[in-house]
Amino acid sequence: MKTITIATLTLIASVGLAYAGAAEGKELYTAKCVTCHGANGEGKPAIAKMMNVTQRPLASKEVQARPDAELKKVILEGQGKMKPVNGVTAKQADDIVAYLRTLK
Ligand code: HEC
Repeated sequence: MKTITIATLTLIASVGLAYAGAAEGKELYTAKCVTCHGANGEGKPAIAKMMNVTQRPLASKEVQARPDAELKKVILEGQGKMKPVNGVTAKQADDIVAYLRTLK
């Protein structure tokens, strides 16, 4: 029993390290991104149609291949038809990127 507890705690600790900020990022994602990108980053046909763009799923290989710095820039400065997201600090953008990495 004790071994299991230790193993579980170690697992939680290492996952926590790998995805530092992902929990905060998930909350921010839900508040700021879900309306346009969907719960799992799959995109929203209505938004894509309205903005006349193709939305790549955020979990796709193409998006996941982009470095953290680029994804952060998209959040803070926008990209193409996506406007910069209001009220997101640089630190919060890092947390959101950490969360995006959990989508793949
Ligand atoms: C008002 C709708 C809207 C909101 C809100 C929004 N996005 Fe977007 N996002 C878009 C659209 C539309 C595109 C495609 C833009 C283009 O390529 O012209 C896009 C593109 C992206 C891309 C680039 C994907 C690629 O193809 O490489 C990323 C990453 C992204 N969004 C992340 C986010 C995150 C994270 C948030 C929340 C902090 C967010 N977006 C909020 C509409 C939105």
